Amino acid sequence: MSLKDVGNKIPIYKLKTTEEVMKYYDEWGEKNKYNKDMIEWNYTGPKETVNTFKKYALNKDAIIFDAGCGTGLVGLELKKFGYKNFHGADLSQKLLDTIPENLYQKLTKVDLNKPISTENNFYDAVMCVGTFTFGHVKPQALDEFIRITKPGGLICFTINEGIYVDYSFDKKINFLKEENKWKQLEFFKSDYIASKDVNAWLGLFKVN
Ligand SMILES: C[S@@+](CC[C@H](N)C(=O)[O-])C[C@H]1O[C@@H](n2cnc3c(N)ncnc32)[C@H](O)[C@@H]1O
Repeated sequence: MSLKDVGNKIPIYKLKTTEEVMKYYDEWGEKNKYNKDMIEWNYTGPKETVNTFKKYALNKDAIIFDAGCGTGLVGLELKKFGYKNFHGADLSQKLLDTIPENLYQKLTKVDLNKPISTENNFYDAVMCVGTFTFGHVKPQALDEFIRITKPGGLICFTINEGIYVDYSFDKKINFLKEENKWKQLEFFKSDYIASKDVNAWLGLFKVN
């Protein structure tokens, strides 16, 4: 039995390097295990995030970047509510390969801890769900999300509560507010993976 099958808490806090994270997800994607686990754990991150997003994103033609799209659970929610143009990007090619055909208009393998190869002000919105967590993507990625989002566009994300202060997401978010880079529309503690006693901050910001 792998580590992912045991224990009360998800052992992602053990992951340190990007290589380890990639291997972890490449394995988790096998035999649809990631999706099965998310159903079993009642993972509500994608649903909660898209529910919040749709209150503000009224244009269903908006071009959306799903950063750390994994197996496409956010894409499925976006589709459910009529959004048509979304691009996915993830570190794990194995997870990208599991995404249903034609769900996303474009899929790319990326390391979000590095600069994103998208021009400035390209997207109407960025979604990033489950990807700000232990050993995954660092707060600096928020600078890139702002860069690739149009003025007036939306950035909607979750941050695992266990890293929010430890990884200085609290400071980064406030700094971006003080620098007038974005305006907070929503910020609250979401259920996320309540069945595992793991919650996340859910934020929705408007780019200035
Ligand atoms: C918990 S999963 C969330 C996936 C999906 N958004 C969801 O809600 O089901 C975290 C995702 O972050 C991706 N990831 C981790 N580190 C990354 C990095 N440096 N760059 C891009 N994606 C990364 C993983 O491959 C994985 O798909």
